[in-house]
Amino acid sequence: MSNIWSIGGGKGGSGKSFFAGNLGILLARKGYRTLLIDADLGAANLHTIIGIPHPEKSISDFINKKAGTLEETAVPASTPNLFLISGAMNNLDIANLAYEQKMRLMRNIARLPYEYILLDLGAGTSFNTIDYFMISHAGIFVTTPEPTSIENIYRLIRSVYFRKIRQVVKTHDFRILTEEAGKRNSSATVSHPDVFLQMVKELDPEKGDTLERELQAFQFKLTLNQLRKQDNPKTGELICKIIERHLGLKMSFAGNISFDDHVHDSVCRKVSFVDCYPYTQTALDLRECCRTLLEDVEKHAIVQAVQKRVDA
Ligand SMILES: Nc1ncnc2c1ncn2[C@@H]1O[C@H](COP(=O)(O)OP(=O)(O)OP(=O)(O)O)[C@@H](O)[C@H]1O
Ligand SMILES: [Mg+2]
Repeated sequence: MSNIWSIGGGKGGSGKSFFAGNLGILLARKGYRTLLIDADLGAANLHTIIGIPHPEKSISDFINKKAGTLEETAVPASTPNLFLISGAMNNLDIANLAYEQKMRLMRNIARLPYEYILLDLGAGTSFNTIDYFMISHAGIFVTTPEPTSIENIYRLIRSVYFRKIRQVVKTHDFRILTEEAGKRNSSATVSHPDVFLQMVKELDPEKGDTLERELQAFQFKLTLNQLRKQDNPKTGELICKIIERHLGLKMSFAGNISFDDHVHDSVCRKVSFVDCYPYTQTALDLRECCRTLLEDVEKHAIVQAVQKRVDA
């Protein structure tokens, strides 16, 4: 089964595409068959970041049914094991897919035969963007150290968490539970989804267990990009702690990525950063992040296996 990771951020320009593209290259270099999908349909640019200036196929071929399967629209990158489904479009309206088109796309993404599938998302908390987290095993949230970016990432993480809850607890039950939560603790549904989960477990233990399993299966991860010398290197870990405290979810820190002017240079030259500047601190940070994320996959698999045995 594939590991699907959604790479999102509340704010444009935090470095989601830069991170996704370079992480894809690093995973592929480690021997994992990896697919990058540019899901930022209105403003696709992932192809440039990994050094494919003009991808000859794109996701629009699948959406417009020119390609029989989604798999057919993947193009190989110059790194062995790495493939890209480009989001580059001719059709201007494609950013707003109809519901059926979106569902068909998501179903097909979930079936693709790769070890890692990285979804590079558009900025923000729109319904459309959050949908992608629902088919993912992990969300990697990319923020810069700027307070505006941090505020937006918090909002995005909260929206994803609530959507996960809504996936299990359907509208009618959700309304009843929300009312009940309001009676017990006025902030339960607004800012403390963990309190909400506890309450679901009390009121409907079966649904509560399903919800808890669903939430535990999804991993929340944070990376702090564009860290400059004057920034506090502990900021990322602090954000994780604050989010854990406020939302009651497990948030793991994947690492800092240093700011480097060579990134601008690599984007302008349409070449991948980790290939061009492998000895910079930023490339080192990206490799370290990749290592941490892979270690987490192993740890998570062990925890899930133990959990399954306990449940059996
Ligand atoms: N670590 C970094 N050091 C220096 N510049 C960076 C770094 N990461 C990203 N950038 C620069 O920031 C800009 C935005 O990066 P990127 O396109 O990856 O952001 P994004 O979050 O995907 O934006 P959007 O929401 O518009 O898709 C780019 O010009 C890139 O060169
Ligand atoms: Mg982007």
